[in-house]
Amino acid sequence: MGEKMDAGVPDAAAIAKAHAVYTPAALRFYDLAVHGLSNRFAWRCPASRLVELYAQGLSANHLEAGVGTGLFLDRAGTGFDRLVLADINVHCLDLAGRRLARFRPALRQANLLAPLEFDLAPFTSVGLTYVLHCLPGTMSEKLVAVDHLKPFMAEGARLFGATILGRGVVPNIAARGLLDLYNKKGVFNNGADGIEALTDGLRQRFATVRIEQDGLVALFTAR
Ligand SMILES: C[S@@+](CC[C@H](N)C(=O)[O-])C[C@H]1O[C@@H](n2cnc3c(N)ncnc32)[C@H](O)[C@@H]1O
Repeated sequence: MGEKMDAGVPDAAAIAKAHAVYTPAALRFYDLAVHGLSNRFAWRCPASRLVELYAQGLSANHLEAGVGTGLFLDRAGTGFDRLVLADINVHCLDLAGRRLARFRPALRQANLLAPLEFDLAPFTSVGLTYVLHCLPGTMSEKLVAVDHLKPFMAEGARLFGATILGRGVVPNIAARGLLDLYNKKGVFNNGADGIEALTDGLRQRFATVRIEQDGLVALFTAR
């Protein structure tokens, strides 16, 4: 586990560690390292499964929270009336903004663990992929990010995404090594993340929740 939060107050150092790794140099290898190799051989959930989740979940009025390199929007996006990319890390916003320029995205730098001060009308879909396992805290503390996104969801809007679980799973040698390394460095904070806590937390917040597990990855859709 990474650093803890004190009585629900996000720890600035732990929040920084969870995204500081995404430098311009690191982002050049991100798609291959994470979605090419780790997804298939460590997390055992091929990127194609996540592309499928996006193809089904995306709407024309979409907010992507924790955009990274923008791979899934690039692969699954067909067109948007409005696309907003939010991330705490400016390098991610720069890269994804350029990659997705054909969709004319708006960019917002924001920490999902703090209330979002966006002057934006509600969205009909929100993507949150591979962000929860990075965020520090317990599952209920991480899901505060969802509470911050909810005011930007229109009635009936869909939240979808995925997260790598660290509890109640059987990692292979590659996954065990990566989980230990990333949690030690504070890039991941998922040692206590189990599918039950994720399911319960989403059910407390949404009327309809669908969760599937593929390898170590929980894929969710909630409305
Ligand atoms: C593992 S990457 C996932 C990127 C992308 N969604 C994907 O699946 O490839 C985690 C992303 O969440 C962002 N992130 C981490 N902590 C955050 C926070 N507190 N608020 C907003 N974004 C955050 C990182 O900068 C990064 O873009």
